[in-house]
Amino acid sequence: MFLTRRHIFSAVRKATTTTMTHLNPCQKALFHDCPVNELQPLRLLLLGSPGSGKGTQSNRLQKNFGVAHLSSGDLLRRNINQKTTAGLRASDYMAKGQLVPDELMLSLIDDELTLMGNPNWLLDGFPRTILQAKALDSRLQKLTQPLNLVINLEVPEDVILERIMDRWVHIPSGRVYNLSYNPPRVPNTDDVTGEPLSKRPDDNPEVFRVRMQQYKDMCAPILDHYSSIAVTLRGNTSDEIYPQIEREIVNRLGLLPGVLSVPSTTSMAAAAVSRHKREQQQRQTTLGEKQHHQRKRQEKRSPLNAATMSDNHTESAAAGGP
Ligand code: AP5
Ligand code: MG
Repeated sequence: MFLTRRHIFSAVRKATTTTMTHLNPCQKALFHDCPVNELQPLRLLLLGSPGSGKGTQSNRLQKNFGVAHLSSGDLLRRNINQKTTAGLRASDYMAKGQLVPDELMLSLIDDELTLMGNPNWLLDGFPRTILQAKALDSRLQKLTQPLNLVINLEVPEDVILERIMDRWVHIPSGRVYNLSYNPPRVPNTDDVTGEPLSKRPDDNPEVFRVRMQQYKDMCAPILDHYSSIAVTLRGNTSDEIYPQIEREIVNRLGLLPGVLSVPSTTSMAAAAVSRHKREQQQRQTTLGEKQHHQRKRQEKRSPLNAATMSDNHTESAAAGGP
């Protein structure tokens, strides 16, 4: 059967979690301009310095790809907020900008991984030590869901400090705001729940310096550990970096940004939407031309029937029919 771009496109949307065995590489290449591998679920680790935009990018990826987002920092903050035993242990370390002990982090994350319930997910800020990475690898191996992409965000240090001073967070969800870049619709209030926003106790220049140093120490060994699937993306703003992230996902995993009916902020999704519209217009034009020729042929044979047919077409079109 000859597959049009529309057929292929809808097949990809349906099969975001399965391999597209029914399409050959040429057919798959019609989706976008990049070379395409087999379609794989997204199992992404997002690394980056404090304030590099891991949380911001995660929110976009959640919206555009429908992935589950697990942030170790958000998880710890929720535990502190709820005064759990783990939270009480973690709070001192976090307030000083130090890593919490590996066994504490691992016990918290382990439960979350089990509850994930979505084959497409991204980890934000975990693992940060080789011991955590090895523990995660063997856990994911057992679940037959190994990481398949590691993205490290690199943003200049001077840009970041200013952002962090302006950051407000909604602790229960981990949503992040910035007074100049993405302010809440109502001051000091979360857009979704209407609950109050908070300042993070580790968002001050002294603790930021400790967190930055800690990131510099851990970054190289972790990138080395995942060297076969890791990539570093650079830019001054999240808007500059986001299209690069999308491109890596499309290129390496064959996934397209998700629901096209939702207006998208991304170039890739916008291109897919306009391509879809173009194809729709082409189909309508072809249909219109066919009907026109059909009427002409009918007119030649029997002018009276042709007039009736034309009326039917007008009614059908007015009713939204074919
Ligand atoms: P964590 O919560 O992970 O903090 P972090 O790594 O320091 O990263 P941030 O959350 O500060 O930054 P982000 O990259 O998410 O940036 P964001 O999108 O918010 O960890 C906190 C602590 O928990 C650690 O110090 C440690 O103690 C502990 N911990 C966590 N994981 C651990 C682990 N695995 N092991 C042990 N301990 C662990 O963006 C920053 C701001 O910039 C926002 O306000 C945003 O709105 C704004 N912004 C984004 N883009 C732009 C733009 N283009 N222009 C202007 N502003 C922008
Ligand atoms: Mg964050």
